[in-house]
Amino acid sequence: MSGKDEQTRTKLWGGRFQQATDPTVERFSASVAFDQALARYDLRGSIAHARMLGKTGLVEAADVDVIVKGLEDIGADIEAGRFAFDDGLEDIHMNVESTLRERIGPPAGRLHTGRSRNDQVATDLTLYLRDAASAAEAGLAQLRGVLLERAREHVDTVLPGYTHLQRAQPVRLAHHWLAYFEMWTRDAGRFRDLRARLDRSPLGSGALAGSTLPLDRVDTAERLGFEGPSRNSMDSVASRDCALEFLSAAAIAMVHLSRFADELVLWSSSEFGFVTIADAYSTGSSLMPQKKNPDVPELVRGKSGRAIGNLVTLLTVLKGLPLTYNRDLQEDKEPIFDSARTLGDCLEVSAGALATLTVKTSRMREAASDPMLLATDLAEALVREDVPFREAHEVVGKLVAHCETNDLDLGGLSHEALRGFHSAFPAGADELLALERALEERALPGGTARNRVQEALAEAAERLDEEREEEA
Ligand code: ARG
Repeated sequence: MSGKDEQTRTKLWGGRFQQATDPTVERFSASVAFDQALARYDLRGSIAHARMLGKTGLVEAADVDVIVKGLEDIGADIEAGRFAFDDGLEDIHMNVESTLRERIGPPAGRLHTGRSRNDQVATDLTLYLRDAASAAEAGLAQLRGVLLERAREHVDTVLPGYTHLQRAQPVRLAHHWLAYFEMWTRDAGRFRDLRARLDRSPLGSGALAGSTLPLDRVDTAERLGFEGPSRNSMDSVASRDCALEFLSAAAIAMVHLSRFADELVLWSSSEFGFVTIADAYSTGSSLMPQKKNPDVPELVRGKSGRAIGNLVTLLTVLKGLPLTYNRDLQEDKEPIFDSARTLGDCLEVSAGALATLTVKTSRMREAASDPMLLATDLAEALVREDVPFREAHEVVGKLVAHCETNDLDLGGLSHEALRGFHSAFPAGADELLALERALEERALPGGTARNRVQEALAEAAERLDEEREEEA
């Protein structure tokens, strides 16, 4: 049971209640074990509200000062881990208010003037999401910085690009990794877009219909760094679509991290042997002494499941809710906190694993050197000689089958041999299938030719710098 006496608790509920809450219900409905993560936002909201009450004359200046001082002290205690949260007081809002009352006495009773926990929690959450979105952007920027550094080292590292996990066409490793730069850039953009929508203050919406008191919503909005008060009090207390957006952006970013992680798992296997994950980012087996396991990327891949689950959880909580506030909405918090923490952790360890990764360039090149990977180039050589593509595709298909049946190396076929399949072949396979040439010929915008990749690296660095400047 709670540490607070019954009196304190029932007083917060007011005179309506004659019985204390059943202990099972108390435990069932309490959220303070997790919503204490909102403490600093709750205090900021309360301080802004108290100051506004002073400004409008709803509460005397002297009382406001005592309230604000009391809230600041509580904030310091929470930050220092000295604050005893009490399950019996349900949530962070009641914990703070009840402690304030214990500490400063009667003036505490004026803090909740014109306010409901409904607009209070919506405000807390909006403030929380602004910071969580910024933190996600910062984590993504950090990871993209590491990715760019590693990509710069590997402009001339060539590996097979894959489709269907079958070797498809050779690419530069820098090009491969820059694909993730694009994904993670869009991920950061999603968090930035969300922040632009977190610009309205719910405070002053009351339980659902505002207040009869002359509150100054513009004042509290300004104090909390919002552009203005929210436009509809019912929307303010009932909606959680910004939380959904956060969870969605987090789930998408986690899926991208998961794909990247999955490649590290594959690439570090003996079958691929493309990379070695640093000891600091691997673990051993308790049984097999030879093992070094890619647990870090595996966990990142696994944790993407939580992020997806968290999004689905909140979507499901919201879908059948009538306006406005329903207690179901309390279920928004754990998914949000979990996704924020999971994404933050995964961004950090992914950056670390990538920064310390050893790339086995010769293994990659060996895998990319199979002339079969350039069968498309043979077909395109014919197209350049004015052969229709479908015909060229057919011819090269036959060539490939011929090599397979007769155990021949496609790259070893002479000009003569090629001409046996089509008279338009302009040279022998050794010339048409040279790896460097094949890479250099892929020079369209977005391609893997050396200059294109260099340009892409420079352009990516510029975008990252611009973003960082905007944030500064
Ligand atoms: N702990 C609650 C939540 O997270 C705060 C709002 C409670 N409001 C209410 N009317 N019971 O949603």
